[in-house]
Amino acid sequence: MIRGQERVTNVKSKQIQLDQIKADILSQNICQELAKQATQLVFGDGSPNADIVFIGEAPGKNEDIQGIPFVGAAGKFLNEMLEMIGMNRDDIYITNIVKYRPPNNRDPLPEEKQAFLPFLEAQLQVIQPKLVITLGRHSMDSLLPGLKISQVHGQPKRYKGQVYLPLFHPAAALYNGGMRQTLIDDFISIPAILKKIT
Ligand code: URA
Repeated sequence: MIRGQERVTNVKSKQIQLDQIKADILSQNICQELAKQATQLVFGDGSPNADIVFIGEAPGKNEDIQGIPFVGAAGKFLNEMLEMIGMNRDDIYITNIVKYRPPNNRDPLPEEKQAFLPFLEAQLQVIQPKLVITLGRHSMDSLLPGLKISQVHGQPKRYKGQVYLPLFHPAAALYNGGMRQTLIDDFISIPAILKKIT
């Protein structure tokens, strides 16, 4: 059991470690070509002490401007789904596999995902979430290789000691009625999945 003051110190030290990872991305000039075309690095948002970490693909236009992941239309839909399960953005941590906006919102390249992977792994190492939720196939492929999202969405997977839940990307589901309902149904199962993780 973590007592009050201990918990505050723990959150603080996690934030300091996350700030260091962000500084490392900048000082090591990761994906310099992407960085040059982007407004800023979009590192992550939410609670460093969260039980759930959501991982998207890459920042879009709004995220690039604000420096915060999932603040556009997909983010609004995500916030609505969080509300459905009695959570909000302060209860979770959210980031992307690629942390600069790809030009014209193109798909991230394999080498870009590869370059950012050690930093994503470091973020997870600091936060130590119970559940990692991948949004869309890009983040799923980076962390849970060899799976087909159409076959495994909504099914928790344990891999190298971490529990993952692959979900469809909210941007893909936003305007596709069937996929939208599937994503909502999968999302609603999150509290029960979390409860089962020891
Ligand atoms: N889509 C993503 O994958 N990430 C964001 O931050 C916003 C939209």
